[in-house]
Amino acid sequence: MKRLAIGLLAVAILGFSVFWWLTIPKAIDSTVKDWISKSGDPILGETIFWAGGCASCHAVKGAKGKDKLKLGGNHSLVTPVGTFNVPNISPDRENGIGAWSVEDFANAMLHGTSPDGKHYYPAFPYTSYSSMNYDDVKHLWTYIQTLEPVKTQNKPHDLTFPFNISRGLGLWKLAFKEYQPVLNVGNTDNFLQRGQYLVETLGHCGECHTPRASLGYGGGNTSRWLSGGPAPEGNGKIPNITPHETGIGSWSEADIVYYLESGFTPDFDSVGGSMTSVQENMAKLPKSDLEAVAKYLKTIPAVALN
Ligand code: HEC
Ligand code: HEC
Repeated sequence: MKRLAIGLLAVAILGFSVFWWLTIPKAIDSTVKDWISKSGDPILGETIFWAGGCASCHAVKGAKGKDKLKLGGNHSLVTPVGTFNVPNISPDRENGIGAWSVEDFANAMLHGTSPDGKHYYPAFPYTSYSSMNYDDVKHLWTYIQTLEPVKTQNKPHDLTFPFNISRGLGLWKLAFKEYQPVLNVGNTDNFLQRGQYLVETLGHCGECHTPRASLGYGGGNTSRWLSGGPAPEGNGKIPNITPHETGIGSWSEADIVYYLESGFTPDFDSVGGSMTSVQENMAKLPKSDLEAVAKYLKTIPAVALN
């Protein structure tokens, strides 16, 4: 009996150690240091900020104009696993991220790891941001430092068990592995590569427009890439934006650019729902970036809406 108990205990300890080891949060490669000493460019950083849609979640809900630059958080995202209270990422030293180092920021953006070594929840779309390049992380950091510090205090998330145990996310992160480009665009067409970076990485368009179960970051199943599906927050449907007839196959590249700039579809419908803030952000990008997005959206495989 005693032996059995010791045996079981040993198995439990072993199991726990494996869990612990497998779920250790990752950090940036400390040998890649040269980007840290380079100076960031806040103007380039501003483009990344709008393309990345940070204000859609980190400013208060429905913020307009200059209020989009007050990144005090306090915006709640209601999901099937509970409510996420988005944190303050303004440069306030106490309540925001003003006291962070650029390495802390890179660990958050590229690995979903916090300064105290915890895993972030993927409600923060770092699964897409993880393929950002270091220079862009630096530019974005430099830009965020120029914004107004906001005093709002962070509120804890309100999640159901077992989702309230962040360590378990390590297992989920293992399954997602490394980012693989969804579309093979080669490396000769810089313009198309820019479109890919804007859609797959910064714009995280797939987080809404691709059905969850087929989000293929590392999993390989991207067969339904951008083909629409149920909304992540629960109600409604997200449209198919592939070149299929059930998607936006009838839109020209100019129509796509016009929609992102103005919020009007070719039939003069206006943008609504969660796309509204995405469109307002996209409208702040240089026109050449919107053209690159349009070209990318016309290049991906046409997939029927499910
Ligand atoms: C879809 C909503 C959403 C978007 C878009 C988003 N975030 Fe977040 N972000 C979150 C949530 C939710 C958390 C909290 C995650 C957690 O606690 O596990 C978070 C956490 C963070 C943190 C960690 C803050 C802390 O106090 O530990 C940083 C830094 C951050 N986000 C930066 C950004 C930047 C920069 C962008 C734009 C490139 C961005 N986020 C876009 C939802 C979002
Ligand atoms: C937060 C979720 C979300 C994200 C992120 C998102 N979209 Fe959307 N998108 C929507 C929703 C919802 C609609 C439908 C809007 C409506 O009903 O007016 C939409 C509509 C569209 C449409 C119009 C489709 C049609 O048939 O009317 C295009 C084009 C589009 N999105 C492109 C993009 C691109 C490009 C990105 C990335 C830069 C992106 N979206 C990111 C939610 C999102």
